[in-house]
Amino acid sequence: MQVFDVWRVREDFPMLKKNMNGRPLVYLDSAATAHKPHSVIEAMHHFYEKEYGTVHRAVYELAAHSTEMYSEVRGKMQRFIHARDEEEIIFTRGTTESINLVAYSFGKAFIQEGDEIIISEMEHHSNIVPWQILCKESGAKLKFIPINEKGELRLDVFDEILSERTKLVSIAHIANSTGTLNPIEEIIQKAHAFGAKVMIDGAQAVSHRLIDVQALDVDFYAFSGHKMYGPTGIGILYGKRALLNEMPPFMGGGDMIEEVYMDHSTFQEAPLKFEAGTPSIAEVIGLGAAIDYIESIGREAIDLWQNKLLRHATEKLQEIKGLRIIGSAKQKGPIISFALEDLHPLDLGTILGLKGIAIRTGHLCAQPTLRRFGQEALARLSFGIYNTHDEIDLCVHAIKEAAVLLKPEMSY
Ligand SMILES: Cc1ncc(COP(=O)(O)O)c(C=O)c1O
Repeated sequence: MQVFDVWRVREDFPMLKKNMNGRPLVYLDSAATAHKPHSVIEAMHHFYEKEYGTVHRAVYELAAHSTEMYSEVRGKMQRFIHARDEEEIIFTRGTTESINLVAYSFGKAFIQEGDEIIISEMEHHSNIVPWQILCKESGAKLKFIPINEKGELRLDVFDEILSERTKLVSIAHIANSTGTLNPIEEIIQKAHAFGAKVMIDGAQAVSHRLIDVQALDVDFYAFSGHKMYGPTGIGILYGKRALLNEMPPFMGGGDMIEEVYMDHSTFQEAPLKFEAGTPSIAEVIGLGAAIDYIESIGREAIDLWQNKLLRHATEKLQEIKGLRIIGSAKQKGPIISFALEDLHPLDLGTILGLKGIAIRTGHLCAQPTLRRFGQEALARLSFGIYNTHDEIDLCVHAIKEAAVLLKPEMSY
């Protein structure tokens, strides 16, 4: 494994040199979106200035070169998550679109009245709402795996609700609210034993966990470029080729067709079948640079570093009187959500913002999870490759100061 040097890494991220409200930026919201290394910004800049052209559609040199660069990223992504072939990698706009694609297309092909779909109580809204829509339209039933006090999945209940009626199980690899790292290998095996397919929402995992979709034997795996140090507007849906070929298109338009007549059309095979319209070309190029960046540091090294930050932050936050961490699973990703006495997280976040510290506050796009813990809003710290122990100490100190300001009877 490579030696990890956070100070060297920080040099790669121009945004980290920024001040916010006159203070050096302390960015603790990478679970929402991660900052971009210079190499990603430069790859996109260079592409637009020197190499920009459309893909798939034209024979001139510029378009051919663009198409080549664009297609290379599909291969890079295939290797990054160890898919069997490039045709299993679909470019989407992000995790949300990837999940909606499966809900729509897999739903149309395979879900009928009386079928069941299982998700969990710790999902991001984008892994809940598409299934609610599908169930409403198809007459299928949506079931939930509940979570325990620590924020772990109740696998005993999963065993009870899993049956031959289950057609799909869709679960977060790492929950964006509690930080729980789920035992997806076990979930996939159990679901497959009943013939159900499995979709994993990898939005919070893919930037620092080694993902091997073949070893996992997962049917679909979804994630966003912008949470893995790449651009916004680009995401990935991995799907097993045989399954993708049985699913109808998600959207109709250019690029996804073979032949168009006035009364009907024929379609390309996956992945193009699912990529209607001119794609996000420069964003794909940026995503390729993000993969190179992550690989130049190594996911094991990133994971190890972020785990150290998580341990440090957990210890420090636990020292704050009246602070309750929501999510204490044995295995966690680099995310900590908490409530502090009856202080409103939005007030806390605003005060921290004035001190240059960016944290997420609110319902975290996970209202059912928060309700499970009797909360409407939480404060959340999440760590990226570039965060330091000092930043966590600064943030913890600022939380104490803000608490005293908001509630003078509190003392630290
Ligand atoms: C676990 C999880 N799933 C899905 C999403 C949605 O990702 P996007 O907004 O990039 O589509 C997020 C974003 O925060 C997330 O954390």
